[in-house]
Parts: sequence; structure tokens; C-alpha cells
Amino acid sequence: MEYVTLNNGVKMPRAGFGVYQIADAKQCEQAVLDAIEVGYRLIDTAQSYGNEEAVGNAIKKSGVPREELFITTKVWITNYGYDQTKASVEASLKKMQLDYLDLVLLHQPFNDYYGAYRALIDLYKEGKIKAIGVSNFYPDRLVDLALFNEVKPAVNQVEVNIFHQQIEAQSYNEKYGVQMEAWAPFAEGKNNMFSNPELQEIGDKYNKSIAQVILRWLVQRNIVPLAKSVKKSRMQENINIFDFELSDEDMQKISAMDKKESSFFSHYDPATIEMIAGLHR
Ligand SMILES: NC(=O)c1ccc[n+]([C@@H]2O[C@H](COP(=O)([O-])OP(=O)(O)OC[C@H]3O[C@@H](n4cnc5c(N)ncnc54)[C@H](OP(=O)(O)O)[C@@H]3O)[C@@H](O)[C@H]2O)c1
Repeated sequence: MEYVTLNNGVKMPRAGFGVYQIADAKQCEQAVLDAIEVGYRLIDTAQSYGNEEAVGNAIKKSGVPREELFITTKVWITNYGYDQTKASVEASLKKMQLDYLDLVLLHQPFNDYYGAYRALIDLYKEGKIKAIGVSNFYPDRLVDLALFNEVKPAVNQVEVNIFHQQIEAQSYNEKYGVQMEAWAPFAEGKNNMFSNPELQEIGDKYNKSIAQVILRWLVQRNIVPLAKSVKKSRMQENINIFDFELSDEDMQKISAMDKKESSFFSHYDPATIEMIAGLHR
């Protein structure tokens, strides 16, 4: 596995495995075990996914030393505010049977994220979290948070895929030393992502699948992709992206496919904030 170095010196794998929408505990545990077996070392969960216990069980059963794994969870907005965030991270640690987390992110930029972030800073100083960061923080809120806190976010996890490339956002993240992670790198298959003829043509040149081209394009942009699959053969496919390099010409062809539009929703839209506020209450 290749690694990136975060702004506090912590090393994070260059590609990760996500467990969103694997609600069934047995299926989630098996998926994480399979992911670790095929070589994944970064596992991305969240309080709101309801599967932290299953992830913890898989970590324990995997037999891989804890220090070789990089475990991320995210604090949900109903747990924001200083005291609640601290208590919720302690609860996540307990559910996952861990004594530290590698990375904890604030899941959304709504509600009292300042109080929540200051709780993460204190947990970081206590050594319970090796790195702290945010998710879905678009440039305005990212810059605000980075400017007015003593510890800058190490990571920002946002939607990045072929049709939503986040070029401008990336320049703000880089300006503040924040490593970007890509959620939904395949846009969950929307917009016929897996049968796109242009991506197929590029993949054919390297004898790689469309999924591999997408993940490799992200890695070459210095964005850490988080892919989800419950199928072991696809996990194998999705991690097998470090033995080829897309040419500048192919990178440019993919750049030209940017629609600068989310395949899901816009975090700038008040209706999205209302929708998210109604989740996981
Ligand atoms: N921070 C946030 O707000 C946020 C939001 C969404 C996601 N995330 C994170 O990002 C991770 C990935 O995003 P996601 O799960 O939403 O979507 P995704 O990874 O873009 O897409 C997952 C879908 O693609 C399929 N798939 C996976 N590999 C494939 C392959 N090689 N060929 C064909 N189909 C393939 C999967 O099906 P099978 O499972 O059947 O293989 C699943 O339906 C999540 O698990 C989570 O950790 C974070």
C-alpha cells in the first residue's frame, strides 16, 4: 500500500474502503474482513452508518496489527457541541473496541461544528485521535474553520468523481494543507458511470476496468479515493490501481468530462440542509 503524509506527519493509505450503506452487521463484518484480506488498510465508517460495532469486530478478527490499520469515523451533527462530541467519540471507541482512532471527521458543516471541532482538538491532544478533519466542508466553511482554529483539519472528505471534479475546491484544500478524500468516487454508479464509453476506451489501453481508471485518476490528482463494495472480486479490482499510470493526455480527457455538478445534492442548497437535519435523529 502507498501512503500520503498528512499535515501533522501522520501517514494515511493512498486508497481506502468505505462501509456506507452496509447496514447489516454480518455483511459489514464480512466486507471489512474481505477488504483487509485483499490489502485495504484504511477503513472509513461513521456514527450515522450504524455499523461501527461490525467494523470493530472485523478489525479484531482480521489478525492484522492495529498499528497497520487506519480507522476513520465521523461525528454526526446531532452529536455536535463540545461535550456531546467528546462523549460520542468515546462511545465510538467503545463500539469499535479500540483505544484510539486514526482519523475522526465532522460529517457535515452544519449545527455547532465549532464546538464539535474544539472537542476533536482536545481528543487529538489527549492522543485518542491521531488526526482530525472534516467532511463536506466546501471552500467557504473550510477556510473559516482553518483560519480560526489552532489545529488545521488534516483531511476533508467530499464528493469527487468524474462529473464533479472539485478542481477549485482542491486548490483551497491544498492552500491550507488539507488532504482531500473522495467519497462516492463512482457516484454510486449514477450517470451510467460503469458503462461510459470514453472511460472504457481509456481503460482498454491499460487493460484496466472503468472503476480502476476512475480510482487511478483520483490517486494521480493526489485525492484519496474511498470505494465501497460488498463483493470481494470488486474489492480486489478496486485496490489493484498502483501498477499503471494514466498519461497526461488521458488525465486531460477525463478533466474535460467535468460537469461541476453533484450527482446527489448541493451542500449550498437550503433544502439539502433541511434534508440532512432530518436524518438520523
Ligand atoms: N462523508 C460523506 O458524506 C460520505 C457520503 C457518501 C459516501 N461516503 C464514503 O465513501 C464511500 C464510497 O461511497 P459510496 O459507497 O457512496 O459509493 P461508491 O463507492 O461511489 O459506489 C458504490 C457502488 O458501486 C458498486 N461498485 C463498487 N465497485 C465496483 C466495481 N469495481 N465495478 C462495478 N460496480 C462497483 C457497489 O456495488 P457492490 O457493493 O454491489 O459491489 C456500489 O453499488 C462510502 O462507503 C463512505 O465510506 C462518505
